[in-house]
Amino acid sequence: MNKKIFSGVQPTGNLHLGNYLGAIKNFVELNNQKDNECIFCVVDLHAITVKQDPKELKKNIRETAATFIASGIDPNNSIIFNQSMVSAHSEAAWILSCVSRIGWLNRMTQFKEKAGKDKEKASIGLYSYPVLMAADILLYDATHVPVGNDQKQHLELCRDIAQKFNNDFSSPNFFKVPEPLIQKQFSRIMSLKDGTKKMSKSDPSNLSRINLTDNKDEILNKVKKAKTDPLQMPENIKNLIERPEAENLLSIYSSLKNQNLENSVKEFEGKNFSIFKEKLSDLLIEKIEPISKEIKKLLNDEQYLDAILLEGSNKADKIASKKIIEIKQLVGF
Ligand code: TYM
Repeated sequence: MNKKIFSGVQPTGNLHLGNYLGAIKNFVELNNQKDNECIFCVVDLHAITVKQDPKELKKNIRETAATFIASGIDPNNSIIFNQSMVSAHSEAAWILSCVSRIGWLNRMTQFKEKAGKDKEKASIGLYSYPVLMAADILLYDATHVPVGNDQKQHLELCRDIAQKFNNDFSSPNFFKVPEPLIQKQFSRIMSLKDGTKKMSKSDPSNLSRINLTDNKDEILNKVKKAKTDPLQMPENIKNLIERPEAENLLSIYSSLKNQNLENSVKEFEGKNFSIFKEKLSDLLIEKIEPISKEIKKLLNDEQYLDAILLEGSNKADKIASKKIIEIKQLVGF
């Protein structure tokens, strides 16, 4: 079957190894498979659910597009665009927010985490963010959505919204109910400083993550300082229980090397962490440094990046504006 792939990444700076291994690496693989139609969106409307500096935002939109291309997504073979250029996203989000139930949104764990203790001060956009995400996906009749594990709940909500809309407007199959594509292993990369916390753009410690713009020295330094435990490398996979840092570093190694965790454990069983860290740095430098260099090169050519985004937006707009007309007709406008 030919798959319609849609996914998005927020242009909020500090794109990191978690974004790469959990999502972007898979975008590239899907983009390379014949017959897949791929749309990759820089979700700038999502970014403004928390306060952004306008100049930084503009820079980060280009940097996210550059990261897609530098990672291996071919803009001739897929649509790369930014969300705010296609007005149907905002329109569909409003209509879908009238179908969504407050009870559904109240269950979203990411909102609770992001809003923190003072929920009253969070923006309404941050709360209704998953509805906009559903609009993104449903406007393109996407069949498959590659994401990291932290987006699973949002995709389940998207499926509920699609089904409720189809039901409410007696139009079975109007919205395709999309399938999440979440890898079984390595879909949740953890902080280098705390193996129980997700690697995140917003962690104040830069040492907690490998950024996709890091150079060789930065990568070496971060791996050197990455938290481990006092034991030797595990002898078998069961020994990873309650050793979150060892598990995370071995997972990063395995994902980059495209091998399963068992084989990586075997490769280093009983060795010192220092030997493993050396190999991990080598592999990270081999895989990430070329991406980092290419991002920097692309960022010097703003015109090129803007042209890719404009062309992508025009293509996306053709698809989305047709769908929004159909949505409006069903609603009775
Ligand atoms: P965002 O920008 O937070 O993250 C982009 C992608 O990276 C994945 N990811 C991770 N994967 C593994 N380990 C980690 N530590 C890690 N951190 C981030 C995320 O799961 C995601 O796939 N709401 C989305 C963006 C979005 C979207 C969409 C995605 C908007 N509309 C429609 C799919 C379809 C988000 O904030 O991702």
